Amino acid sequence: MNIAAVFFHLAAFTLLKVTALNTKPFPKDFKFGVGTSSFQIEGAWNEDGKGENIWDYITHTRHWNYTGDVACDSYHKYKEDVAMLKELGVNHYRFSLSWSRLLPTGFTNKVNEAGVQYYKNLIKELKDNGIEPLVTIYHWDMPQPLQDLGGFLNDNFVDWFGDYAELCFELFGDDVSNWLTFNEPGIVCVFGYGVAWIPPNILGQGFGEYMCGKNLVLAHARAWHIYDTKFRAKQKGSVGMVTVSDWYEPNSNKTEDIQAAEVALQFVWGLYIKPLIDGDYSSVVKEQMARRSKQQGFKRSRLTEFTKEQQTYMSGTLDFIGLNHYTTYLVGAQESDPDPSAMGYFQDVEVWRYQPDDWEQGGQDFLKVVPWGMRKLLKWMKDTFNNPKIIITENGFSDNKQNLLDDDRRINYIKNYLSNVRDAIEIDGVNVAAYTLWSLMDNYEWGSYDVKYGLYHVDFNSPNRTRTMKKSAEYYKKVVATRSVVE
Ligand code: NOJ
Repeated sequence: MNIAAVFFHLAAFTLLKVTALNTKPFPKDFKFGVGTSSFQIEGAWNEDGKGENIWDYITHTRHWNYTGDVACDSYHKYKEDVAMLKELGVNHYRFSLSWSRLLPTGFTNKVNEAGVQYYKNLIKELKDNGIEPLVTIYHWDMPQPLQDLGGFLNDNFVDWFGDYAELCFELFGDDVSNWLTFNEPGIVCVFGYGVAWIPPNILGQGFGEYMCGKNLVLAHARAWHIYDTKFRAKQKGSVGMVTVSDWYEPNSNKTEDIQAAEVALQFVWGLYIKPLIDGDYSSVVKEQMARRSKQQGFKRSRLTEFTKEQQTYMSGTLDFIGLNHYTTYLVGAQESDPDPSAMGYFQDVEVWRYQPDDWEQGGQDFLKVVPWGMRKLLKWMKDTFNNPKIIITENGFSDNKQNLLDDDRRINYIKNYLSNVRDAIEIDGVNVAAYTLWSLMDNYEWGSYDVKYGLYHVDFNSPNRTRTMKKSAEYYKKVVATRSVVE
């Protein structure tokens, strides 16, 4: 790190320390919730006709230490989950539908009635307790039979997902006002079809992540159009997509570092969100991909263009943006400090990024606590996408201490991040409609039960997966009750 960068980040850090908490009540119609996803909590992996998905398959065949076979056992304990939500007093609950619980092969010709009933029961229980469902249609658990046919890499995926989404709207849409098509396209595509870190663990040779991303945004648009033409008039809901994004702070005020941070942001937002707003990838991404592909000896860009017809089809297909946000990186141009490993997982971005050691560390390597990044990212989204409606679909703190109930560091995280959300609304005029804390309870953190995100502790050694309220749950309950960040 150069001297200018050290001063720059110290200044930013000091600013954070002296920033006062914004304790003003949130706007009247602002909603507070918590989230989970099917594979991370449901268990019952092969009960009542559920089919196998890619996480079942990989955790069973590669003998991972941890599977989702039982997880939090929410398939059997959903009433207890709703009682916890009721205790917290939240307005909404974000959960996801398991595609293979509803459609064991992934295709709509064979619907699993027990799976349908499970989600009907859950939604009814929520409604009876005054809690709104916020439903993710796809949170990473692709039916294995569809994966065997290529998953996101098969162009027919757009039809498969459209048919599945239509079934979800038909079955549950009368009780759901906000739908999320996909959770975190960047993770699905780059980690799943680029660097092969998560199922389906495909090495993309520089192509896979972009082929996946293209079909994913087209599939989102298909679902949105189906909703718009067949369901919207009656069900009056809206359809968005969830993107995960760090905040990328330039590590100095030099033009090339500011540009580098923008490139890093565009390789998230310009790939997966911009096409759904105006039909095309961001020009920053297109130019960089064309240049790199040429340099690497390819005859054409590894980022395939959309047809004119696809562009028109995708434009304007986001009713709101779902944001998952956890952390911040400092970013610089490669020329100023070349570090080939810095952006390692995603070489095409060509910038370097780091997190200073003195930033507070959470329970996963990436998770540094940087609350001011939340406000800056929200402001950037407002400016870049013409003041869209934003629902914060995830934000939360992990620790890895077993049985930690006095989780003061989680309380601190929630307090400071939420205060920055409040500032973004009040001072920057960002249109944030809701905040969803990750997570209701400790769960299967994609390979491990040791990373804990929950407001409720789950005893994974007890056969009945006993849930216990943590101190942070008491804290969040107060926030929801007073609709304000509490000191
Ligand atoms: C992102 C994912 O959507 C969720 O499944 C995961 O548990 C959290 N972030 C924490 O890593």
